[in-house]
Amino acid sequence: MEQKIQALREEMAQRISQIQSKETLASFWQDFLGKKGSIAGLMKGLGAVPKEDRPAMGKFINDFKVQVEEKYAALSERMEQMELQARNRREAVDITLPGVKRPTGSLHPLTLVKEEMIQVFAGMGFDIFEGPEIEDDDHNFTRLNVPKDHPSRDMQDTFYLDQEWLLRTQTSGGQIRVMDRQKPPIKVLVPGRVFRSDSDATHSPMFHQMEGLVVDKGITLCDLQGMLDRFVQQLFDENVRTRLRPSYFPFTEPSVEVDVSCFECGGKGCSLCKHTGWIEVLGGGVVHPHVLENCGIDPSVYSGIAFGIGIERITMLKYGINNIGLLFENDLRFLEQFKEA
Ligand code: DAH
Repeated sequence: MEQKIQALREEMAQRISQIQSKETLASFWQDFLGKKGSIAGLMKGLGAVPKEDRPAMGKFINDFKVQVEEKYAALSERMEQMELQARNRREAVDITLPGVKRPTGSLHPLTLVKEEMIQVFAGMGFDIFEGPEIEDDDHNFTRLNVPKDHPSRDMQDTFYLDQEWLLRTQTSGGQIRVMDRQKPPIKVLVPGRVFRSDSDATHSPMFHQMEGLVVDKGITLCDLQGMLDRFVQQLFDENVRTRLRPSYFPFTEPSVEVDVSCFECGGKGCSLCKHTGWIEVLGGGVVHPHVLENCGIDPSVYSGIAFGIGIERITMLKYGINNIGLLFENDLRFLEQFKEA
C-alpha cells in the first residue's frame, strides 16, 4: 500500500508538471480525487489491509488526500491568475499610443463668407428673412417696379417655369415679402440661392445673394454708404473705403453701384482692380417710392435703402478665386484650404 502511495506521489508530481490549462487540471482532479479516482481506489483497498494496520494506513491515505487537495487548490488558484493575466494582456489599451485622427469636414467657403456677412449686419441690428426659391412673377418683378414687357427684365436671364412661376433671379423679392408682413421700422437681410441662365468663369446658373433692406423715417443714401463702409471694412480690410457710382435698378431711385477701394494695392492700381484702384462689389440705392406703395407703406412718411450682394463675388474677391466653378465642383483639394486649424 505504501509503495502504491509512493508511486502515486511520483505520478502526481509528474502530472502536476504537465498541467497547463483548466482542462488538464480538471482531468487531474478526476484521476486523483474523483469518485473513481486513485484515492478512492486506495480507500477501497483498505479492506484488504490487516485490521490492526488499518487506522494508521487510513490516516496515511487521508494525509495523502489532503496533500493532493491542497496541490489542486493551489494549482486552481494559479490557473485563475494566469487566465486573468492573459485576459488583461489581451484587452490592454496602451494609452500612450497616439490616437487615430478621424477626418473632419469643414464649412464651405460660401457658407463661411455668408456667416461672416450675417455677423457684420447682425451687429448693426439686422434680422434675417428667407424667401422661396420658386417665386411668382409678382414678387420677383412686378411689385419691384418691373412691369411685364419692361426692358429691364432683360437684365436677368430668367428660368421661367410657366407664365406665372419662375426660379427667383434675385433675393430682392424678399423685400416685398418682408414689407407685406411687417411695417417700418424694418432692418432685414435676405440671404438665398438665385438662378439665371448664365454661365462663364464668373457666372453660374445658380448663385447666392444677400439682400438688405432698411425702411424707416428719414433713411437716406448716407445710411447705405455708412453701413456698407462698415461691411467692407470688416470683410476685406479696415482701411478700405467705398465709392458710389450712379447706376440703374428698377426698384431703387437713385440707384448706385458700390465700389470698394482696392484692398490688394491700396488704390495704387494692380491687376485685381484692373489698374483703377476700385473694385465693384454690389448694387443698391434708395427704395423706389413705387415699391413702398406696392407694399402699403407711405413714401411721404417713410423712406428706405436696399442693397444686393453677390456672395460668390465677395468670396472670390476675398480669397483670390478666379473661377466660380471651383466653388461648386466640391474638389476636396480646393475645399480643404478653407479648413480652420
Ligand atoms: N437684385 C439686384 C441684382 O440681382 C441687386 C440689387 C441692386 C439689389 C440694388 C437691391 C438693390 O436691393 O437695391 O442685380
